[in-house]
Amino acid sequence: MTYRTHSASPYMQFAKLRSGATYNLASSGIMQCSLSDLPVELHDLDISGPTLYGYAPLKERIAKFNGVTPDRVVCAAGTSMANHLAFAATLEPGDEVLVERPTYELLVSTLQYLGANIRYFDRRMENDFRIDPEEVARRMTAKTRLIVLTNLHNPTGVLNDEAALNVVGEIARDYKARVLADEVYLEALYEQRPRPAIHFGDHFLVTSSLTKAYGLSGLRCGWVLASPELAHRMYLINDLYGVYGATTADMLSVIAFDNLDGVAARAKKLLAANRPVLDAFLQSRDDLACVRPEFGTIAFPKLLHRSVHDLDHLLREKYDTSIVPGRYFEMPQHFRIGIGGDPEMTRAAFERLGDALDELR
Ligand SMILES: Cc1ncc(COP(=O)(O)O)c(C=O)c1O
Repeated sequence: MTYRTHSASPYMQFAKLRSGATYNLASSGIMQCSLSDLPVELHDLDISGPTLYGYAPLKERIAKFNGVTPDRVVCAAGTSMANHLAFAATLEPGDEVLVERPTYELLVSTLQYLGANIRYFDRRMENDFRIDPEEVARRMTAKTRLIVLTNLHNPTGVLNDEAALNVVGEIARDYKARVLADEVYLEALYEQRPRPAIHFGDHFLVTSSLTKAYGLSGLRCGWVLASPELAHRMYLINDLYGVYGATTADMLSVIAFDNLDGVAARAKKLLAANRPVLDAFLQSRDDLACVRPEFGTIAFPKLLHRSVHDLDHLLREKYDTSIVPGRYFEMPQHFRIGIGGDPEMTRAAFERLGDALDELR
């Protein structure tokens, strides 16, 4: 009997078991909503309902939100399952996939689990972590079936330029490959959000959810946008995993979409309070270098002289503060910080991070 060699995600174990702290800069999304943030009454909900291949009212909301028809929407348990379904529907074991680096580790773990061969294209700090289409073109081979990228980029928060994305799409098309754009952080541009990349053509797939920008991770309201044919294929694959959606969560997600402006206002208020704190912090530190993102919930500074391992250790042991070490993104001199938390906590966390950095000098 042969066993899969990759069937776990080191980053996800870190995120679930070791990223917690009183002063939390490790979380990458807006702090979680509670039920009281949604105008919901118990009689609005039910336990079971018609969620065969997606709960129709939710599919309609997701379709409208993204400017597509419902037959292009696959409902999925978070962006995580959305990515899994998108990979499974477009790849055979042994197919080659070109993934951005640095990258969100779970994308790689999932691709490895599905038996893909992974190659990377680099997003370089000296290029402000932008996608360089020439680098993408250089890394393609006849066996490449999928290009995988995130927008906003996790871990740096950098917004991808639409023209560059289109060039990447053309490169993929030349090789009869596709592009998967994980846009879970793009939602955090709110009314400034560019159109989802599915609008560039059916050689794109888009994955996203209400998790990061709206603080609604608990609903697991994720989706894939794809051609109707691929969407159908993904629903059949989902029969092997989740089978049905959770009706109560789907109904709550419909209510969330119908009241999204209010949920967004809460999130924008948090970011409006925290972004200046991040900016002032980065401005004040000559021991860090950072491509400062204009939007979103995360940043990825580089520690110039000391080890991030030591910083992480000191923060945990003495300051009860968490960051995400860059080794999870294959860039061990960096660390990721999130600014979606409670403003008082976030301000205190940055003070502690500053104290720890001073102590390491
Ligand atoms: C790029 C990216 N995609 C997907 C996810 C997971 O999203 P969800 O909670 O909706 O499954 C994350 C979470 O950190 C992420 O960073």
